[in-house]
Amino acid sequence: MSHHYLRFDRVHYRYPNGYEALRGVSFEIRHGEKVALVGANGAGKSTLLLHTDGLLLPCEGQVVVGGIALTPRTLPLVRQSVGIVFQDPDNQLFMPTVEEDVAFGPANMGLSPEEIEQRVDAALRAVGAEHLRTAIPSRLSGGQKKSVAIATVLSMQPSVLVLDEPTAALDPRARRQTIELLRRFLHTTLIATHDLEMVAELCDRTLVMHRGELVADGATAQIFRDRELLETCGLEQPVSLRTAPV
Ligand SMILES: Nc1ncnc2c1ncn2[C@@H]1O[C@H](COP(=O)(O)OP(=O)(O)OP(=O)(O)O)[C@@H](O)[C@H]1O
Ligand SMILES: [Mg+2]
Repeated sequence: MSHHYLRFDRVHYRYPNGYEALRGVSFEIRHGEKVALVGANGAGKSTLLLHTDGLLLPCEGQVVVGGIALTPRTLPLVRQSVGIVFQDPDNQLFMPTVEEDVAFGPANMGLSPEEIEQRVDAALRAVGAEHLRTAIPSRLSGGQKKSVAIATVLSMQPSVLVLDEPTAALDPRARRQTIELLRRFLHTTLIATHDLEMVAELCDRTLVMHRGELVADGATAQIFRDRELLETCGLEQPVSLRTAPV
């Protein structure tokens, strides 16, 4: 079984206040697929992503990564393959400098100082943030934080890359850089986003969430043509795909 495989089997999740944010979610992502997860605010996207590396565990159903079902016991193993970039970069950056934040994961993996150095260089280069190396994370702009947060995950060379709103707060150049970086990432990728233009460009497949349920899973082009589905789920067809009225 490939490390790069992710499966949800009828996953239900209820927050402690009783709100059921995931209602029987099932899907499967194979090695190398780039899959978008879209849906209105509150649809359950972030809740779903937090299940991919066991930050939340299902109340019912199961999550399988690389053939291993996620349980408290298998968590450390699964976390070696899944890299998750949170919606809010402030949840990801906690060291005194950017380079220490990017080195944190590789250092925890027990790599040699040379290897850590190489990984930090490569990850900062990949997100165009070499110049921020010695900066203090809390003083970066929102977009800079987002780029550095992505670098902290890339430095661990995950088999499954999971990103929550990777282009939110990015200016056009940083957004473009992020899209190209995700294009070059050849392993399994799951991206929750409101940036449907990026989805049209990057992801062949799209999952649509609506009020905790997965209501569509298919070819992006087909989903974006389905205006009724988009409207029901509070989404808008990307401008680049709109056809002029005849
Ligand atoms: N800690 C929590 N306790 C209770 N309910 C929560 C909690 N976190 C999220 N929720 C609820 O779960 C639902 C799904 O939230 P989630 O953050 O997964 O949505 P989302 O699709 O990521 O939205 P957005 O597009 O705004 O990021 C929402 O109704 C939200 O209010
Ligand atoms: Mg979210």
